[in-house]
Amino acid sequence: MRKIIVAIDGWSSCGKSTMARQLASKLNYLFIDSGAMYRAITLFFSRNSIGLGSMDNVKQALSQINLEFVFNKENGNTEICLNKENVENLIRNFDIAARVSEVASNSFVREFAVAEQQKIGKCKGIVMDGRDIGTTVFPDAELKIFVTADIKTRVLRRYKELILKSPEITLDEVQHNLEARDHMDSNREISPLRQADDALLLDNTNLTPSQQLDIVLNWASAKMAV
Ligand code: DC
Repeated sequence: MRKIIVAIDGWSSCGKSTMARQLASKLNYLFIDSGAMYRAITLFFSRNSIGLGSMDNVKQALSQINLEFVFNKENGNTEICLNKENVENLIRNFDIAARVSEVASNSFVREFAVAEQQKIGKCKGIVMDGRDIGTTVFPDAELKIFVTADIKTRVLRRYKELILKSPEITLDEVQHNLEARDHMDSNREISPLRQADDALLLDNTNLTPSQQLDIVLNWASAKMAV
């Protein structure tokens, strides 16, 4: 069986990361959540009051950022460290979600993150999810999957996650945030979210996690056997 790169892209909160993590675990591959990198950069910018107005400030800030993924044996997750601090939980809050798409649309931020992602994928044997993985980061990935689900389903899934941390959050706020991020991610100038021509489409609105995993496992096995 050859080692491949699996590139998973799609809309916010359609379960890409969960699916990518499960697939990586089944294949014994490395799982990388590229969105976590943009979120960690956003956290650094927020903590250090870095605005996006000055390109020099952005470049200077990026030169101070080190991102690494560590494997957490207790929960089986790959977690992100920002300058050696595990920030996996901190980056999942609503404040970061509200700002991350704007930060991710900055050209220097994208250049920085894409270079890091390509370095990680050099040896293949990786499942990476994001918005531009099949189009920009790994245009030659052996398997590309584009995930979608209807907006109501995505809002509800995200709401259930967020309510645990922010009990005051409303469904309307979550829907507004998702729609705003979808709009920004798919309309930005650099590497906008879109389905790569050779990506397989997966609509998981009516699929259970295990049904969806079976589908992508079959796709991956077929590509690995080539
Ligand atoms: O997958 P996520 O929700 O954690 O991603 C956070 C944001 O980062 C999302 O709004 C868009 C951006 N992103 C991106 O532009 N490119 C990627 N490869 C991954 C995420």
